[in-house]
Amino acid sequence: MPPRVRAEVPWLFNLPVISCAAASIICCASLVCLLSSFFLADANSIGAVYGRNGDNIPTPQEAAQLLQDNVITRVRIYDYDPTVIQAFSLTQIRVIIGITNDEIPGLAVSPSLAAEWIHNNVAAYIKTTNINAIAVGSDVLTTASNISSYLVPAMWNLYYGLVNLTLDKSVKVSSPMNLEILENSYPPSAGVFSGSFIPVLQSMLAFLAATNSFFMLNVYPFLSYELDPNNIPLNYALFNFSSGVLDTGSHLTYYSLYDAQVDALISAIGALNYSSLTVTVTETGWASEGAPSETAANYDNAKTYLSNLVRITQTNAGTPLRPGQEIDAYIYDLYDEDSNPGPVSMQHFGLFYANGSSKYDIDFVTGSAGSGSPSPGPVSGPSSGPSSGPSSGPSAGGGSETPPPSATYVWCVAKPSATNSSLQQGLDWACGPGLANCGPIQPGGACYLPKTVVSHASYAFNIYYHYFQTDPRSCVFGGDAELTNVDPSYGSCVYVASQATHLEGSLFTWCCGILVPFAVATMVLSL
Ligand SMILES: *[C@@H]1O[C@H](CO)[C@@H](O)[C@H](O)[C@H]1NC(C)=O
Ligand SMILES: *[C@@H]1O[C@H](CO)[C@@H](O)[C@H](O)[C@H]1NC(C)=O
Ligand SMILES: *[C@@H]1O[C@H](CO)[C@@H](O)[C@H](O)[C@H]1NC(C)=O
Ligand SMILES: *[C@@H]1O[C@H](CO)[C@@H](O)[C@H](O)[C@H]1NC(C)=O
Ligand SMILES: *[C@@H]1O[C@H](CO)[C@@H](O)[C@H](O)[C@H]1NC(C)=O
Ligand SMILES: *[C@@H]1O[C@H](CO)[C@@H](O)[C@H](O)[C@H]1NC(C)=O
Repeated sequence: MPPRVRAEVPWLFNLPVISCAAASIICCASLVCLLSSFFLADANSIGAVYGRNGDNIPTPQEAAQLLQDNVITRVRIYDYDPTVIQAFSLTQIRVIIGITNDEIPGLAVSPSLAAEWIHNNVAAYIKTTNINAIAVGSDVLTTASNISSYLVPAMWNLYYGLVNLTLDKSVKVSSPMNLEILENSYPPSAGVFSGSFIPVLQSMLAFLAATNSFFMLNVYPFLSYELDPNNIPLNYALFNFSSGVLDTGSHLTYYSLYDAQVDALISAIGALNYSSLTVTVTETGWASEGAPSETAANYDNAKTYLSNLVRITQTNAGTPLRPGQEIDAYIYDLYDEDSNPGPVSMQHFGLFYANGSSKYDIDFVTGSAGSGSPSPGPVSGPSSGPSSGPSSGPSAGGGSETPPPSATYVWCVAKPSATNSSLQQGLDWACGPGLANCGPIQPGGACYLPKTVVSHASYAFNIYYHYFQTDPRSCVFGGDAELTNVDPSYGSCVYVASQATHLEGSLFTWCCGILVPFAVATMVLSL
């Protein structure tokens, strides 16, 4: 379960002065390649943490089925319960099993006990269950400091047990830590470990590097936000559009607290000269309900955080320090766990209710979160999409629906009245964390000219709207964007068209002869 971590430090309101050049580098270096790999990518970067602190949750077999039904291909459990490990047998699900802190000293002092542990709990199941890692303890340095000195010896002993059975290539040994091991986490480039933890961390990093393992990190922007709502903008914590925070050390701009937290850890690892270690987020999540004082814990925030996390993780967006790199993330929690101690929110971290029914209707491959209505599939409008763009939408799901002949098309463009600086922020966001394919507005691209902020922003807003449209609010950009039914394409610069959602769009064109923005339509319809 998530530890209570201290507040993330001051979110400084220094406006990013990200230059076009910087934006281009970001786009070229990562996004263009990213988006093109999006559809090829294995849907395998998202996992779930399967806690079982509830007397009413479904059986392990049902949990395994639920994960498969939702194409969630990774799971982490906190123990090594044979019935649970067996429930995942003959599935493609990769399983991280766990060892409790209490077991660490024994495994550290006895190589034979560790070898036996591997034999009984890994080797016995590995032929049918895809066990791919062992999490040794949890937050050992910050919650069980009296056993800190046993941690790395236990990890080595377990590793030798694996080596002896030639399982060391397929099963990795690591130990999850939260951000409390950092003395400083802001700005991300200045992330460093607390001095008192460095001796153990140094030997752990050496172990991880020597055994080709990875760092296990638990991060909860939810908790940081809860502790410091006055300094952390909610949208920054939710991966929503925000103007970003410039890290003056690295000159990178951060658009989400999650990225900033992961990069703070990456910087701290780098400071000890282990910058090539892979990081996996072994826990993150957001509660859908909480006590009245836990104002961030609500359904909308949780759905936004989780769907954005899935989208960003599945596209292998990486972080500003590691653009385009796969950073796997395990969402805490598979089910709501009604026996979790702590604040009310602790019982509402589930992706699914305790009865197994879906809470958010998130597509775990694309991150699209339906509002009950089917996600908008690929749309081939009157004008075809840009040749450099992906050929099908992220929510394609194999469907190849042809738009009805009477379909109405819309485009999302920048408002000419918006200020350049405000549009630039939207542009940076759309081409950055928004994952829009901004290739065509790079030098030499079909839409590079005219080289104005409003033109480039329009192109980026429209692509973002088209591919990641889950609701009308994807054409907002701080009020700088608007929908139009006039095709903005010109010359060889093609703006991909989106289909006006059948209900709202056609209703309004039918009634009024003009297309009223969805937001208005939705508002009116819901009256
Ligand atoms: C560490 O502390 C815990 C809790 O205070 C205690 O139960 C445990 O026995 C201690 N372990 C060692 C090896 O000292
Ligand atoms: C490896 O396995 C052999 C036999 O299976 C055993 O005798 C030996 O002690 C083991 N070595 C380690 C380091 O566990
Ligand atoms: C990291 O490497 C640099 C350059 O080789 C060296 O100066 C520094 O002392 C190293 N730091 C640590 C913590 O090993
Ligand atoms: C499952 O539980 C949720 C929350 O308690 C409830 O809203 C929903 O109706 C339940 N679904 C079923 C099928 O019982
Ligand atoms: C906005 O930027 C364009 C070039 O992209 C420039 O022509 C225009 O004058 C700028 N507007 C303002 C108000 O600075
Ligand atoms: C974040 O964005 C989502 C989707 O556009 C929206 O539903 C949600 O209200 C936004 N959250 C905040 C706090 O603005």
